[in-house]
Amino acid sequence: MLARGRALYKELVSIAVSEGYQLTESALRLLERCEDPPAVLMNVISKLRAEEPMAVVIDLQHVKHVAGVDVQEPLVEQHVKQEEKGEEIDATQYAANYRVIQLCGDDTRIEGTIDEFIQYFRSRYYKLRRIIERRRDTFIPVSELSNLQDGREASIVAMVMERQEGSKALILTCDDPSGTVRVAVPKSNNGLYEQAENILNDQVIGLKLRRSNSIFIAQDIYFPDIEIRRRDKDLGNIPQLYACLISDIHVGSKKFREDLFERFLDWLNRGRDGVVRRLKYVVVNGDLIDGIGVYPGQDKELATTDVEEQLRMAAKLLGEIPHHIEVIVCPGNHEPVRKALPQPALQQRHRNILAEHRAITFGTNPAHLVVEGRRITVYHGQGLEEIIQSLPNISYSTLRENMDRVMLALIRARHLAPSYGENTQLMPLSDDPLVIEEPPDLLHTGHIHIAHTTSYRGVQLVNSGTWQDQTSFQKSLGLEPTIGTAVLLELSTMRATVRYFS
Ligand SMILES: [Fe+2]
Repeated sequence: MLARGRALYKELVSIAVSEGYQLTESALRLLERCEDPPAVLMNVISKLRAEEPMAVVIDLQHVKHVAGVDVQEPLVEQHVKQEEKGEEIDATQYAANYRVIQLCGDDTRIEGTIDEFIQYFRSRYYKLRRIIERRRDTFIPVSELSNLQDGREASIVAMVMERQEGSKALILTCDDPSGTVRVAVPKSNNGLYEQAENILNDQVIGLKLRRSNSIFIAQDIYFPDIEIRRRDKDLGNIPQLYACLISDIHVGSKKFREDLFERFLDWLNRGRDGVVRRLKYVVVNGDLIDGIGVYPGQDKELATTDVEEQLRMAAKLLGEIPHHIEVIVCPGNHEPVRKALPQPALQQRHRNILAEHRAITFGTNPAHLVVEGRRITVYHGQGLEEIIQSLPNISYSTLRENMDRVMLALIRARHLAPSYGENTQLMPLSDDPLVIEEPPDLLHTGHIHIAHTTSYRGVQLVNSGTWQDQTSFQKSLGLEPTIGTAVLLELSTMRATVRYFS
């Protein structure tokens, strides 16, 4: 039996009968989950009349065909199956189970001295070295390479300071706390050279070297990488709930697509599909507001230059998210907080404004969430910019086709901002919190305004797109954003799909 919506049930049956059709139970269940069930049913009927004039029964396949349940289809099918097995879960009745691990406090301070940066990079180096050392090779300090006999091999763990393209080899200048070495990656070694092209500036890697006179020639490259692992598939322990991952809303910008965001809110409040009924969490991963003074000339693209007014506008929108859903907000580079990573949660007076209409949990950027037992790293993604600049044959205009490469480079580096010295500012903390020491179940990024999902060795990688039209800056880069997108994550299976509200 249908769990709810008796009036709708009767209305749909009545429409079908008056048009001379019968509805199967499965067709009814799917229709009930559509945005506008009567309208979808009428479309099904008119299509059926044209294509199958003799048909008198409307079944699941007919509705699927018309309802355009593309990305939602498996979810709907699964939901129908679960419902048949009596496994329905109601998010309104479910007590949320999550916690936020903050990566810095409100009062984290640094002096900005060279010593602090030395300590910071040493921390990064040793943490990544420990990950690379799991390869069971023996690694020697760079300073001991001078004792290596001609023709012999040795392995090091080093940070790549510089890459120089030569006619016959790529030359990597690498260092560790003991010294510096130049390593040649011969172009004649195709496989290795291809790997070397994906090395990012400042990345910590392992290198197996062979000495040939005074030259050290790379024999193998070890990225920190992710160990192949199996995710906990014990679905019995993880409730069949959804988390909705969004970012880059940019309230306060003239380019903010409030109309699409309203459509999203409408879906959250009145949506009939099985996803909404099981949706328990909304994660806002930075750039909720457009802020002020983020880039030159931004004021010309702002609807209001008052940041508190932007927050009040955002608060009203978040206030419309049904209150049984937990909302978690982390900052991005447009929020009025320190720009250097890790960014603290919004300051108290701004939290008060945002939380005026509903309860909100505030997190740092990055932050680790443990949601129903699943570990989700929420990171706005500033460091993706340097990866895009660092990888060969990728630009903002070709980013949509290359999102897999960019996101994989980030997770394989085991660091959230592997390249330093461009746009992304870092706090030189004595213990680098941006190293991905334990791979999460899911890494959620935003910032580059292109929605994408992929997975790598058991880690789900998600970028949640944007709610802002293409800006003049993005236009100059050739970046085509995906606008009005949310990623829906089913926590029991960790399946993530992009849903478009455009
Ligand atoms: Fe953004």
